[in-house]
Amino acid sequence: MSVQIPFVDLKTQYKTIKSGIDNAIQQVIEETAFVRGKHVDAFEKAFAEAYGVKHCISVANGTDAIYITLKMIGIGQGDEVITVANSWISTSETIGQTGARPVFIDINQYYNIDVSQIERKITSKTKAILPVHLYGQPAKIDTIKQICDSNKLHLIEDCAQGHFAEYKGQKVGTLGIAGTFSFYPGKNLGAYGDAGAIITNDDELAVKIRMYANHGAKVKHQHDIEGVNSRMDGLQAAILSVKLPHIHDWNRMRYEHAKQYNELFKNVAEVVVPEIGPDVSHIFHLYVIRTKKRDELQKFLKQQGVETAIHYPTALPFLRAYEYLGHTPADFPVAYQFQGEILSLPMYPELTEGMIQYVVDKTKEFFSSK
Ligand SMILES: Cc1ncc(COP(=O)(O)O)c(C=O)c1O
Repeated sequence: MSVQIPFVDLKTQYKTIKSGIDNAIQQVIEETAFVRGKHVDAFEKAFAEAYGVKHCISVANGTDAIYITLKMIGIGQGDEVITVANSWISTSETIGQTGARPVFIDINQYYNIDVSQIERKITSKTKAILPVHLYGQPAKIDTIKQICDSNKLHLIEDCAQGHFAEYKGQKVGTLGIAGTFSFYPGKNLGAYGDAGAIITNDDELAVKIRMYANHGAKVKHQHDIEGVNSRMDGLQAAILSVKLPHIHDWNRMRYEHAKQYNELFKNVAEVVVPEIGPDVSHIFHLYVIRTKKRDELQKFLKQQGVETAIHYPTALPFLRAYEYLGHTPADFPVAYQFQGEILSLPMYPELTEGMIQYVVDKTKEFFSSK
């Protein structure tokens, strides 16, 4: 049988926690606790405790988590929010949804926001900075926080790819006014459908977020404002509660896999492996290499049964959605160069040493034939 290595393998993980998951699903169905309810409350409590924060507000997905947070801290028409050029579009589309304008910053060698370029982009309209801990590696959040403090800007962390990653020993998502999370199935902590959450220590913001996500009502039928319908399902919450106790082991396994990949790629000159920055614990949501022959390598690996992906083939400022900002490659030279070279290799806790060896061997085979 030919070798097949998927990019993500949620089935194998399910098998390792099957009885817990099956029982949780059964219980939700028997209790018909489908939307909000005790399983959602229990997950919110457990997630807040795991982060050591006062509030966790669950929402329908990670995109809503950002949008609702921006909206409830008062971002709107005429404002600017500084964010990073390489991310999933949720990071910037939510800024646009509030009526504000995304102001992009180029990335550094860690694929995160280049903090040395932030201050010169601050204007009288800037209201917040929204960094992303991309691929599971924390952005240089202490510097970003200093910039926010000295310019009176809000700091919101997009932690969709950074569950329990740390910067100088502090969990990312706890450094600004709020941290936003996605529990999309393929995330390090993933539900079996869409789900998201916001964490914060700000009591007032927590109340507003909860209200806005619930049609603008703090109390049933008393709608103080128009809000949105963004709720976590009971099934997703129950599943996430079963998975939460495993997250540190799973993150550790991902890290070990990344170390093995890096070690095996050591003498492969054509491949640039991910660099781990100082002061961070990287949780390797994605393992991203760079190579000048990215498209050819991806095709070759596919023929060899190895599924890969690209995060992201077009950096945000160069998407058609942002044509109105009039950017050129010279505005974001690093993001522009990297978008043509990055390749995400299979990465999940259940990968085996043999699978990693196979991916690397096939990559070497590709380059030796060149
Ligand atoms: C960096 C980043 N931000 C936000 C999101 C949005 O999360 P969701 O897909 O749950 O809406 C994602 C998910 O892909 C993401 O990777």
